[in-house]
Amino acid sequence: MRNGIFITGTDTDVGKTIIAVGIAYALKTKNVNVGVMKPIASGSRSDAQLLKNAARVDEPIDLINPVYFGLPLAPSVASNIESREPDLQKIHTAFEYLSQQHDFLVVEGIGGIAVPIQKDKLVADLAKRIDYPILIVGRSYLGTINHIMLTVTFAKSFGLEICGIVLNTDQNVQRDISVLTNPAEIERLTGLPILGEVPFNQNISVKGAPINVIGDFVSRYIDIAKIHSPQTS
Ligand SMILES: Nc1ncnc2c1ncn2[C@@H]1O[C@H](COP(=O)(O)OP(=O)(O)OP(=O)(O)O)[C@@H](O)[C@H]1O
Ligand SMILES: [Mg+2]
Repeated sequence: MRNGIFITGTDTDVGKTIIAVGIAYALKTKNVNVGVMKPIASGSRSDAQLLKNAARVDEPIDLINPVYFGLPLAPSVASNIESREPDLQKIHTAFEYLSQQHDFLVVEGIGGIAVPIQKDKLVADLAKRIDYPILIVGRSYLGTINHIMLTVTFAKSFGLEICGIVLNTDQNVQRDISVLTNPAEIERLTGLPILGEVPFNQNISVKGAPINVIGDFVSRYIDIAKIHSPQTS
C-alpha cells in the first residue's frame, strides 16, 4: 500500500530531517498513526531520534534506524572502511514491520539521491524498493534550480514517483530575488508542485532545539494536505 513518503534532498545538510520532523509532527498532531524511519545513517543516529520524538513512537532506534555506520561518510565508503556490508535485508524487514504498524510512514533517506549505499546500489535503489512517492528537499536560494533539475532527472530515470518539492532556507541568507523567483521557475521546468517554502529560523538551527519548536515552525510552511489526506492511509 502507498502509505508513506520518502524524503530525499539535493544534498546532505539541506534540511531533510527538519522537513521530515515537520511532516511527522503535523500528522501526529492530527492524530494520524504516523511512523518514522531512517533506514541508513552514518556518523550519528540523531536524525532517527528526532524523527522518533516528532512522531512520538515507542519503537526502538534499532528498528527506526536498522543500519548505522559510525563514520560520517557515504555508506558504501563507511562500509568499506568498517569492513561491514550494510544489511539491506534488515532494512526491508524493519520497513515491512513499521509499515504494517502505522497508517503512514515518513522515511528519510541519506544525503542525496545518488549517494552510494553499497558497491552497486544507490539511495535511488532503496527509494525504489520502498516505493513511496518521493519528496525532494532543496535549498531556497541561488543554485537550487540546477540541483533540483539534476535530482528530478535522476529520480525519474529510476522510475520514482515524485510528489513534490520543498524549498528550505537552511542558512541565514538574504531573502533575495533568487528566493522569490525560484519556486515559479522550478514548477515551470519540472511540472512538479512546490509543497512548501520554509524560512530560516535560528531557534531551530541549534542542536537540541525542542521538538515542538521545530515541528510547530516547519509544519506551518508545508502543505501537509497534499502529502497526506485521510484517503492516503
Ligand atoms: N529552516 C531552517 N532554519 C534554521 N536552521 C535550519 C533550517 N533548516 C535546516 N536547518 C539546520 O541545518 C542543519 C541541517 O539540517 P538537517 O539536519 O535537517 O539536514 P539533512 O538534510 O537532514 O542533513 P543530513 O544529510 O545530515 O541528514 C541542521 O543543523 C538544521 O537545524
Ligand atoms: Mg538528516
